[in-house]
Amino acid sequence: MSKLLLIDDEEDVRYSLQRIFDAADVELAAAASGEEGLKVIPKFKPDLVLMDVRMTGMSGLETLRKIRATDPKLPVILMTAYGTTQTAIEAMKLGAYDYLLKPFDIPKLKEVIANAFKAARDMKQVVSYEPLLESEDYELGVIGRSGPMQQVFKLVGQVSATDATALITGESGTGKELVARAIYHHSDRAQQPFLAVNCAAIPEQLLESELFGHEKGAFTGATVQRIGKFEQCNHGTIFLDEIGDMTPLTQTKILRVLQSGTFERVGGNTPMQVNVRVIAATNKPLEAAVAAKQFREDLFYRLNVVRIHLPPLRERRSDIPLLVNYFIGKLAKEQQHQPKAVMPHVIKALEKYHWPGNVRELENIVRRAHVMAKGDAILLNDLPLEVAGQTDAPAFSGVAGETAGADAAALARQLFQWARRDPKLKVIPAVERELVIQALKETADNQVHAAKLLGITRATLRKRIEKFGIRRELNVK
Ligand SMILES: Nc1ncnc2c1ncn2[C@@H]1O[C@H](COP(=O)(O)OP(=O)(O)OP(=O)(O)O)[C@@H](O)[C@H]1O
Ligand SMILES: [Mg+2]
Repeated sequence: MSKLLLIDDEEDVRYSLQRIFDAADVELAAAASGEEGLKVIPKFKPDLVLMDVRMTGMSGLETLRKIRATDPKLPVILMTAYGTTQTAIEAMKLGAYDYLLKPFDIPKLKEVIANAFKAARDMKQVVSYEPLLESEDYELGVIGRSGPMQQVFKLVGQVSATDATALITGESGTGKELVARAIYHHSDRAQQPFLAVNCAAIPEQLLESELFGHEKGAFTGATVQRIGKFEQCNHGTIFLDEIGDMTPLTQTKILRVLQSGTFERVGGNTPMQVNVRVIAATNKPLEAAVAAKQFREDLFYRLNVVRIHLPPLRERRSDIPLLVNYFIGKLAKEQQHQPKAVMPHVIKALEKYHWPGNVRELENIVRRAHVMAKGDAILLNDLPLEVAGQTDAPAFSGVAGETAGADAAALARQLFQWARRDPKLKVIPAVERELVIQALKETADNQVHAAKLLGITRATLRKRIEKFGIRRELNVK
């Protein structure tokens, strides 16, 4: 559950905001002044602060300054009434996360708060990249032991120790954002903010202003000044996700920031100086975009100082069992549940699939299977057809051995769960009958083959057919 601290000297505002968050998955604390808020922070340890700008006693701006000095990574959203926007803008320069205008537009309020919680999580949940992550408590980690992933860990380690720009490439779902956060958490800037900007999610004409801010009147609709992410994130790390989608003008500005740390707000002519570490990512082949003159070559080289390429999952299949285990452990912890076992042939099927959506797809499928599985083991049936269908192993192998033993045990547990729903049911005869019917179906009523399949003699099979009253056409060869 995320924790929110509300600082406002007006009781009405505290009351109405409390009501908004009552139903949501948010733990809320309130303080009636800046002074009180500063006292509550070390005790309550909020993930986010929502604070009024104009308060009696210590002002919002002053409180913000104090928070930034002790908790630079704690996002603060300012609330401002008409007429105090200028103060809110000043606050953004001091590194406030965002500001909201009173009276509140509730959906907008919820959106801004959800984004800020995500930013807080990105900064807080340390991503470890130790290649041999054996941790039992399932901290967030970049998992993998395959050769290509070891190469990735080596690079992450090297680039973390520097301030160099890093470019992370790889297909969708290969873990680019996770790696970006691992770099941040292991860098000297780990105590400073980390802000992620998804360049593809922001309309082209707004991206420049999002990154660099704008002056009042810079374009139609720019009614107030705005502070961009680079200014807000001074001394911190910016993650430019989907960097392939930028206009030439924005590319030029990014290049300049990387070269000299300077930029101007849109519509402004005062050069601003910042110290920001840039990590960029893309799932598009940037070289091709350079060749097609859609992406500046000089910017490409500037970003490409350290290149970390994440191979698709199908090229590191040996990591699949490890990843599955990790996701199961995480799920079990989340749901406070015993981790479910995964049958060896299920792992085999997962290893065979081609994973167009990479690790994200694997995580989703494991999550779904964990929900679908009725017993305490995940079976082939719990996988989507296109994944399960890739295997040639039968759902339950008849070969004696470890695999068959584990499979049979899982099956038995399932059967008992099913049987518990019907107290009159006698498990062995019920299952035996079905097994005989199924064996006859599968062998086209060939009793010799059916008996073999069942592991009993033909005479015994005959007795069972009689006992259970199974009448099928005999087709003895
Ligand atoms: N090596 C890994 N170990 C553990 N989890 C991983 C790993 N790689 C990816 N994941 C998980 O898979 C999901 C997708 O990862 P991420 O968002 O980092 O991918 P991406 O490359 O940024 O994808 P996209 O290009 O679609 O944005 C996340 O939930 C992430 O935690
Ligand atoms: Mg991503």
